[in-house]
Parts: sequence; structure tokens; C-alpha cells
Amino acid sequence: MTVEEKVGQTIQADIGAITPDQLLHYPLGSILAGGNSSPGGDERASPQAWLDLARAFRAAAAARPGARVPLIYGIDAVHGHNNVVGATIFPHNIGLGATRDPDLIRRIGEATAMEVAVTGADWTFGPTLAVPRDDRWGRAYEGYAEDPEVQRMFAGPMTFGLQGALVAGAPLAEGHIAGSAKHFLADGGTLNGVDQGDFAGSEQSLIDIHAGGYVQAIDAGVLSVMASFSSWNGLKLSANETLLTDVLRGPLGFRGFVVSDWNAHGQIPGCSNASCPLALNAGIDMLMAPDSWQPLYESTVAEVRSGEIPMTRLDEAVRRILRVKVKTGLFADRRAVEGDFSQLASPAHRALAREAVRKSLVLLKNEGGVLPIRSGARVLVAGSADDIGQAAGGWTLTWQGTGNTNADFPHGDSIWNGIDEAVSAGGGVATLSPDGTFTDRPDVAIIVFGETPYAEFQGDVETLDYLPTDPLETLRRLKAAGIPTVSVFLSGRPMWTNPEINASDAFVAAWLPGSEGAGVADVLIGDGDGRPRSDFSGVLSFSWPRDATGTPLNRGEPGYDPQFAYGYGLSYARGGAVPALSEESGISGVTTNVDRYLVDGRVADPWAMVLTDPDGESRPGAAKTGASPGGAVTVSPVDDLAQETGRQFAFDGSGPGSVRITGDPVNLSRQANGELTLSFRYRVDAAPTAATILSVGQGGVDIGEILKAAPADQWRTLRVRLSCFQTAGSDVEQVGTPFALSTDGRLTISLSEIRLASHENDSVCPGQ
Ligand code: BGC
Ligand code: BGC
Repeated sequence: MTVEEKVGQTIQADIGAITPDQLLHYPLGSILAGGNSSPGGDERASPQAWLDLARAFRAAAAARPGARVPLIYGIDAVHGHNNVVGATIFPHNIGLGATRDPDLIRRIGEATAMEVAVTGADWTFGPTLAVPRDDRWGRAYEGYAEDPEVQRMFAGPMTFGLQGALVAGAPLAEGHIAGSAKHFLADGGTLNGVDQGDFAGSEQSLIDIHAGGYVQAIDAGVLSVMASFSSWNGLKLSANETLLTDVLRGPLGFRGFVVSDWNAHGQIPGCSNASCPLALNAGIDMLMAPDSWQPLYESTVAEVRSGEIPMTRLDEAVRRILRVKVKTGLFADRRAVEGDFSQLASPAHRALAREAVRKSLVLLKNEGGVLPIRSGARVLVAGSADDIGQAAGGWTLTWQGTGNTNADFPHGDSIWNGIDEAVSAGGGVATLSPDGTFTDRPDVAIIVFGETPYAEFQGDVETLDYLPTDPLETLRRLKAAGIPTVSVFLSGRPMWTNPEINASDAFVAAWLPGSEGAGVADVLIGDGDGRPRSDFSGVLSFSWPRDATGTPLNRGEPGYDPQFAYGYGLSYARGGAVPALSEESGISGVTTNVDRYLVDGRVADPWAMVLTDPDGESRPGAAKTGASPGGAVTVSPVDDLAQETGRQFAFDGSGPGSVRITGDPVNLSRQANGELTLSFRYRVDAAPTAATILSVGQGGVDIGEILKAAPADQWRTLRVRLSCFQTAGSDVEQVGTPFALSTDGRLTISLSEIRLASHENDSVCPGQ
């Protein structure tokens, strides 16, 4: 192989930033479909479109003159083939952890591999073997448990399920794909649960806690390992030769290849997204360079030629990648299942997911035998019972899992569907009433509520307080009316919910169950006599907290004092009364809203709104009306999604004016790396007469033309990618003003819902 061909093997591009045609010229060895990437940018693309895309890339790579090594194509199938509409969406790992059922895990691995294989991908970025130690981490739900005993129990079966057994001299069997154990190492150990943060722990705790699962995955033959974005004692894992090479290749005996995470190499001091000899030299074999692959390829070729990357190191990386490609069957004639879309959400896979949902439910309380519910009862179903998107969580069709409706799950059942079916079959009546109001008095009410979808750092929180107040009000209202209440709590982590538990007769932790919500009714709704059809068997794999502070709470640690301990879980056989719980949250209520600025009609804490003109600045505080000192800018409330949730700003052109949201500086670089956007709703009430600069920190873009083109009096959404504000001389590491709008001219504009949001296909970069 030429140097170019070898380097190409070590570089992976994202389908959102490379076309098949480019593979005719660049000898890249791999592509991935990231969380927000899809065929033609359509997150709802058909399975056929996914397969066509895989084939187009494969064909182009093979058509390059001299090509001999096939492309390997990876995707995040982390709870089923979750990027594809119509696939089975299994519970997230936190729910699977509660099942303690390794055989179930193996079967889920098999089903997932089959669904991926039929759409033409070769490799999944899983199993996730993180051991989340701080539940404030936005990826806690991707881990099976806070205690590595569950990772040790599941890592082998999941690997066998995905890959099948490795057989000497033969490729993976049909319907199996390569796995990737991630994120090596201690991604779940970062301080304060900060995503991509630092694990400041001892070598012994790496061995005792965070390595749990890797040993078993490697023994089962996992073909790749993904290096973590995080650091160990300040050193980024992607640059940690000791862990990546000495430990992983030595005592852990790993023989596959190591892939780095999404532009993680660019975070290593001395590297950029476009150049990073350090990562390869430390033991990364393949660099995930989603949109930076082209300059990275060029610089890596030069670094090999100059000797900065030794040829022996490059050869070693390429040899490992080739071995995996051989084992994965890329050189063999082995694609018989491709295009068999009947595998997607097949009856067998759906039944398996439903079984997983049943087994993942953890019963925290069951006072007075309110559960199981007699199937002939009159059942009121409140809250978000009919929302499969919420039940599926992050990493579902989109990266953050936001914006999904039931129509996006053509083969799925919501929790409501299952309850309705079971109750109707027993001669009872179920009524869906999201706000919990009713005309016919029910015998019992089920309230489904919890967290809304998030992924990665967007899900990092400061406390474990469950903030929304509507569910609690609904529970209390029903209880006051003498109606027994059953809470079904959806979440990616345990949360402090003592007030909600006190207001419920029964409380079920249902985690993020996915597309087969009917598994909930299998356990909650009994037969006509109120005898169980299935009992609860799930037990906590994460300790449930006594207060909301979020202080790490893990079995075996000094001072361990949970509300419900690791391993807790009631059942019909075991009874269920729980004494009244303390409602002292232990926190003051002040949180830092890194990503929310003007939401629900309020300037979010701890931000302040500032109006500026040549005479100085003013801070309206909580007031909805105000003016800058010289009167050039005024603010008044307007109605948007609800009464007075927006603000109208009038710039009279008498001098330069601006409106800013300011506070203590926050670091938005992770958000920019994740292609988050500054998003807001706006209505142009009088078009601008001059340039109108939108800025984040020091970086600004002119949105004057966009505002001029916007139809008057119509609310619209604008999303500008944060990376657009990262111009020369300005970074987003110290942002004290995450939003500012300024103009010298006249303009009247109404704004609402100013916040950071995930990148959707409508996001822009004005002036570029
Ligand atoms: C995540 C990985 C994921 C990769 C590709 C990263 O941001 O940390 O878990 O596999 O993106 O989508
Ligand atoms: C991608 C994800 C990736 C993330 C990295 C997103 O735009 O779609 O796959 O994990 O960026 O921060």
C-alpha cells in the first residue's frame, strides 16, 4: 500500500461532510453516520435510502483506481438501530441494567445487529461500557449501572449478540456486525458529571470501577474500542499512550483497533481538528474526523513522510484495521441479509423489546395494593403517556432525540396504546387526558411524566431536582379528589422525586423504554380479578437519591445513604408500602442555565438583560418593560407561544443600540463542537434600516438581510450555528454575552425562546 492508502485507512469521515464521489479521489478507510447525519440530510429517510447510501459509498470506494481495501461503515446503534425510522427502539442501557438479565442482552445485541446489517452498515459504536458515577452526567442513561458488576455481566453477552462468536479463519456470521466498546476509559468518572471532563481518580479505581466490562468485551472478541473524549488527571484519553497502548494492548490483551471520538483529537493540546500526530502516536488507530477528514488526511500524509509519525506505527494501525475488516467479512461475499427490511421491527424483535421493557421497570412504591390494576377498571391516563419520542430519549432518529412524534415510530406502541389495549380487552375503559382532568370519575389514574430527550452534554444538569411542577400538581389534585394515583416516571437517571412519590400511591421508575411502551401495561394492568399478568422483576442499577444535590451516590462508598438503594425493587410478591419521604431538597433552587437565556417569558437565571445606547446601559431586571438610558432601545412584552412569553424590542435609530443577555462567562466550546445553534423565535414588526449584528461573545454575524426578507408579522425560528461565531480572534470559551443584537438603524423585532438548541437542517451561518 502507498503512504496515502495507509493514511486513508486511519481516517473516518461523516456522511454529512463527504460525498461518495470524493472517495474516488481520497482513499479513506471508513465513514460514519453521526447522530444528526442521514441520507440527504433527511432524518426520516427510508430504510431503502439508508441502504442506497451505504452502497453508493461502498461502490465509490471500490471504484477508486487501485482500490483494494473495502470501506467500513459505522453508526450509533446504541438502543436498537436508533437512527432509522421503523427500526425497533430498545430501552436505553440504564433500563437494561435494571433487568440483570444477560441472556436478554445477548438477544438484544443479535436483533440490533440484524437491523443494522439489513440497511448496509457494518459496525456499531457500542456497547457503551461507561460506569456513570455522577448522575448529573447527560450520558448516565447510556451506562448499564453505577456499579461495574452489571457491565461485567453484560459486556460479553452484548458483544456476542452483536458480533456472534469469532471463529478462526471465518468472518462474522451473516446478520452480525462489528462492535465498539466505548468510551475508553472512565468517561463515567468525570468530576461533577461534566461531559468530556476530567476523571481525577487513582489507577486503582480505574481497575476496580471503570475497567469493569472491558475485560469481558475483549474476551468476547470486541473488534474495536472507542477512546473517550474525557481526560484522566488532565490528560485527554486520545493522547494517553499509557492507557491506549500499554494497558489496552498489554494486560487487557486487545487486538482490534482503537477509534477516537468525534473530532476529539482536536482537543489535545498541540493538535487541531486538521492535524494531530500525537493521537496516532499515542495509539489511536483510526481518527474520527467527521468534517475535518480532508485537511487531516493531507497533514497526516505529510507527518508520515517527515517521520513525525513513524512508519512502523502507521503500519501497525493499518494492520489492525485490516484484520477487523477481514473479520467483519468486508472482503467476503457476505451481505445476504441486506435489503430484508422485514427484519426492522419484526414481530420477534418487537416482542423482545417489549419483554425488555417489562423487565426494566422498577417498582419503588405500591401502597394499598393499587397495582396491579384490574383490567375491567375505569382508568384515567394523564401526562405524556402517548409520546413515544419522550419514552425513547436521546439518540433516537436525531442526536438529541428532540422533535420526534409518534408518526416517526410507525411500528411502535406508546405507553398509552398498551394501557388502552389491556384495559379495553378486560372490559374496562381507559381515557387519555394529558392534563389529568376528567368528566367520568375514574377508579384509578396513571400519570406518565419525566425528562424530555437529551444527549451528551446537552443533558448535563447541576442538580437532580425534577423541576417541572405540572405532574406534581396533577397528582395532588387527583389525590385530593380521592382517586388512587400511579406514577410512571421516565428518566435517563434517578432523580429527586420525593414530593411526587409522596403524592403517588404507586411509583414506577420506567427509565427510557423506547418504542414498545406496551410492556408497561403488561405489568401494571392485571387480569379481570386484579391478579398480576406479569410481576415486576427489575431492580435499581443506580441508587435513588435522598436529596436533589446530585452529590455522587454509589454503592460501596463511604457515607452511602440513598433513598432507595442499589438493588432495591419491589414486586407483587414482595409488597410495597413506603413511609412518607422527606421533602427537603437540600438545594437553594439557583441553577446555572448555560443554554437557556429567555425562555417561557423569563430571562433565565443567572442571566440579566441589558439595553445599551450612547448614554449608557440599563437593566430592566424582572420587569418586562424598560428603555436604554437615552431611549434608543425600548422593550415591552408580547404574546408568542403563550401570554407575554416574548419581548418586543424597538430600536429608534437615534444612535447605536443593543440588547444583550449577560452574566458570568460560560464555556460554550463543547456546544460549538457539537454544532449546537443559537436559536430563537422572532417576528419582524418593522424591518431594519441598517446592518443588524447578532453576536455570541466577541463573534458577530449580520442578520439584517434575513430580517429584511422575513415576512412581516409572522413568527419564525432562526438558528445560527455556534461555530459561525468562532471567528478569528474570538473563541467561545469565555462567553459572558451569549446573545446580543445591535444596530445603528431602526428596527422593531419581537423575540422569544432564546436558547441553545440542537442543529437541525434549517440552521444557517449568515455571510458564509
Ligand atoms: C459520541 C460517541 C459517538 C460519536 C459518533 C460522539 O460525540 O461521544 O458516543 O459514537 O459521537 O456519533
Ligand atoms: C453529531 C453526533 C456527535 C456530536 C459530537 C453531532 O453533531 O451528530 O454524532 O456525537 O455532534 O459532539
